[in-house]
Amino acid sequence: MDITKLKYNNLPGLTSSFEPVILSCPFSEQIGEPLIEWIEEKANVRVKGGGLKTKFYTNKQRDLPEHDILLDWIDSVIVESVEEMSRWTNSAYNESPESSKRFNIADYWGMNYDQGGGAVLHNHWPYSISFGYYLRTPEGSSPLVIEGNPIQVTEGRLILFSGHQSHEVPDSEVGGRCMIAGNVLYLGVT
Ligand SMILES: [Fe+2]
Repeated sequence: MDITKLKYNNLPGLTSSFEPVILSCPFSEQIGEPLIEWIEEKANVRVKGGGLKTKFYTNKQRDLPEHDILLDWIDSVIVESVEEMSRWTNSAYNESPESSKRFNIADYWGMNYDQGGGAVLHNHWPYSISFGYYLRTPEGSSPLVIEGNPIQVTEGRLILFSGHQSHEVPDSEVGGRCMIAGNVLYLGVT
């Protein structure tokens, strides 16, 4: 049997990686400094790979007004971002009207990578969508590597990807890479 002729080979979303979505935050300058200070104070749990992590915060736990600004903005771009990510899946999701699609940020946490710090290969399954928002990316910062593909991280940018996609952060050559990661739940159509 020639498996290249099978129908499912024509579904890139099922047979190869979902394309991550990358967006620039219009509020990056306003929220940058306070959120970096928050992470520098609270990130004291060392993860596998060496990066420093804050505790997990639920969506309702927000220490600063800048958390509201960032999380509300992420909330506002989720539907259009997932639209982009689900294009090649043939999922029934694509047939549902946009206005009925509901998502909820489940949790978030801050990460600070000092020199030599990284994150080992992992994924966020069973969460369906994950994100990284980059607050500070000094020259020489490690990329985010999703399924072997490195994405250069840039201050003020959000990267959304599918929660099952394994990713890692190589050991950092420089200190100061600072970001907020989180997970999003799909609540189904309502
Ligand atoms: Fe992760």
